[in-house]
Amino acid sequence: MKRTPLIAGNWKMNTTTDEAIRLVKEILERLEDDIRTEVVLCPPFISLYPVFQMLSSEHIFLGAQNLHYEESGAFTGEISAAMLKPFCKYVIIGHSERRQLFGETDEIINLKLKKALQAGITPILCLGETLERREAGEAEEAIASQLKSSLGDISDIQSMVIAYEPIWAIGTGVNAQTGEVNLIMERIRQTISDIFGPSSADRIRLLYGGSVNSQNAADYFSCETIDGALVGGASLKAEQFVSIIQQAAKAGF
Ligand code: PGA
Repeated sequence: MKRTPLIAGNWKMNTTTDEAIRLVKEILERLEDDIRTEVVLCPPFISLYPVFQMLSSEHIFLGAQNLHYEESGAFTGEISAAMLKPFCKYVIIGHSERRQLFGETDEIINLKLKKALQAGITPILCLGETLERREAGEAEEAIASQLKSSLGDISDIQSMVIAYEPIWAIGTGVNAQTGEVNLIMERIRQTISDIFGPSSADRIRLLYGGSVNSQNAADYFSCETIDGALVGGASLKAEQFVSIIQQAAKAGF
């Protein structure tokens, strides 16, 4: 089965609302209407609504960068799935910055995944190994174990997306080689197949993330194991981001 390619832009803590509106305007101006790729924009929470009002394409969706796993209540500064649901088709969960800077564990990520799935928001689950584990030759093991412990008690992952983002490649300009990425992607799909069966494994989309830009994107899209990209820095530049989307569409996967 052919999987629809997906290109997601993670804006992180960048852009004021005015800047977000300008960036989306520029992206929309540069992008053809009939792109054969699914595009997800993940601006900061405060810009979700204004950006939502600008989107009318059947191919471009909004994603949140995080959510809280509780329904509602005394959780100052947090955002619930119900608040995001009217605007967001996707939510990024378990980004390495959340894990490393905000103490998110696999247990917390598991709760967030369950909440997103329950609310009908598709999680983009991020997995990634440290440089230390990679240099110790343990990258595949690290990813498989992160994946397994994030998925406890989850029975339906059909709609989930997984982003493999080696931590050493994020924001560093050092992007992972396709050969290495292929091995990890195969391991992720095999792990999904072991837990949920081959048809789920065949359906799930796997994105690569970590210093993707318009120069290296095509290499990733030429790999059968890769269904798209989660783009950080380059998603803040309309020209670069649109070029990445166009290259994904051209590759056709
Ligand atoms: P980068 O970030 O493209 O700037 O490396 C990717 C990410 O953190 O999702």
